[in-house]
Amino acid sequence: MSTGHAETGRLQDLLSRVGAGLDEFLRFEHPDALHPGRRWREHLEIALPRAGIGIDRVTEELVRHVIPNGSSIPRPGFSSFITTGAATAATLASTAASIASPQRYGHTAFNLLEELSLRWLADMFGLNAMQGIYSSGGSVANLLALGAARQSTFERLGQDPAAEGVGRRVGVYASTETHHTIQRSAGVLGLGRQAVRPIDCDRDGRMRVDALRQSIGDDLRAGIQPMAIVGNAGTTNRGAIDPLSALGRVAREHGIWFHVDGAYGLPGVLDERVAPLYQGLELADSVIVDPHKWLGAAVGIGATFVRDRELLRRAFTQEPAPYLEGSMAPGASDASAFQHSMDNFGLPYYDLGVELSAPCRGVVVWALIREIGVAGMRDRIRRHIDMAAHIAQLARTHPNLELMQEPTLSICCFRYVAPGVNDLDLLNQRLHRRLVHENRNMPSTTRLNGSLALRPCFVGERSGMDHARALVADVLRIGAELVTDTDICSPRR
Ligand SMILES: Cc1ncc(COP(=O)(O)O)c(C=O)c1O
Repeated sequence: MSTGHAETGRLQDLLSRVGAGLDEFLRFEHPDALHPGRRWREHLEIALPRAGIGIDRVTEELVRHVIPNGSSIPRPGFSSFITTGAATAATLASTAASIASPQRYGHTAFNLLEELSLRWLADMFGLNAMQGIYSSGGSVANLLALGAARQSTFERLGQDPAAEGVGRRVGVYASTETHHTIQRSAGVLGLGRQAVRPIDCDRDGRMRVDALRQSIGDDLRAGIQPMAIVGNAGTTNRGAIDPLSALGRVAREHGIWFHVDGAYGLPGVLDERVAPLYQGLELADSVIVDPHKWLGAAVGIGATFVRDRELLRRAFTQEPAPYLEGSMAPGASDASAFQHSMDNFGLPYYDLGVELSAPCRGVVVWALIREIGVAGMRDRIRRHIDMAAHIAQLARTHPNLELMQEPTLSICCFRYVAPGVNDLDLLNQRLHRRLVHENRNMPSTTRLNGSLALRPCFVGERSGMDHARALVADVLRIGAELVTDTDICSPRR
């Protein structure tokens, strides 16, 4: 039982037990993990086991104690942040890859799908002629894009920043609504977080082009080298899309790298009602999108696209290592010369980013697109955008709701209002906690122009219009109950 050797030939049986546990989980009849009366910690929190219990009992513990006490994120009514449970195709593909191709290198079907799926993404989102690389998500995808921007900028100044380091101050221009992974990337790349210039937005959360020009001008006068303009194709807070054409033109005028963060919002381009807002994408030098957000991949998949991956290689190469390259067939470069999948690495993704070992992510994206095609993706994106629009419509017309931002994509910012309430922020904060504790319809909150808003963001493949309606019904019910709390209301006359 506990001999240290894996049992073989049992996967079908074991996976079907885990599959049954997951099917049960996806019925969402279980309470939250922290619901009183849930007893899982005492089963799981044990001292280091000296002897093993064997795979059958591990499977049993997984199904009985772990899976049912998992996260609320996969619930169809969960609309917090920008994260969702993996679609079935993604689960199957990543499970398969974990056994059949633990690495993305070698001349295998998995290595091929890594590249094919990147081309499919580029094709689907109109990033023609761009080349991609997967990484763990938007954080690293932005890092890689800005790494390419740094490489390009400094090479033009006659320096190799990857080899020599960065010897001068640069400016990265990003709106105040930009995701903070841009600042972190600047820190990691040795540019300094303060290299990121916060550019003001208009009332709708879109970067102001006049403020951008002003900031670039200030830096040029101060001898600071402009390095990159970051445009958003779907901000995290409210799904705003920056004026990409105008930003791209400013970038071209000054010879500055133009990066577009579409981690969340790039798939919106599939909906022809909002597609015109993405004009200017063709001017981008780099674009990111996270399949693990709106496309339903399991968490751990982001993609960076650039015009020339060679730049990424120069920015991120780990340099050859004798144990790696030396283990492959010497000299051969043409696939027809290989006799074994391990004669060659296939496309060497490990040299284009920051990970050597990495899971096969392409097979997951391939499975997602292969299952429902572009048409299915478009339907899902439209459904989620419709859900945000539906809430906006109710919020515009209902006397107890206030629309705080016209939605662009699948995020709708609104709040509960009632006469006599002194502190709408406190009311909506409490309302939000109640929603979360009820464990059905769970948006996040954000602050818009100083006020607290409820912020559902719909990206889950299991969520539909009924969940948008149910969320609004819950907000109205809980809001009506809370307005009687004396500390948030003036006494009624
Ligand atoms: C616009 C944007 N960029 C980047 C990120 C970071 O992505 P990740 O959480 O996958 O690292 C997020 C996360 O929500 C995002 O919304």
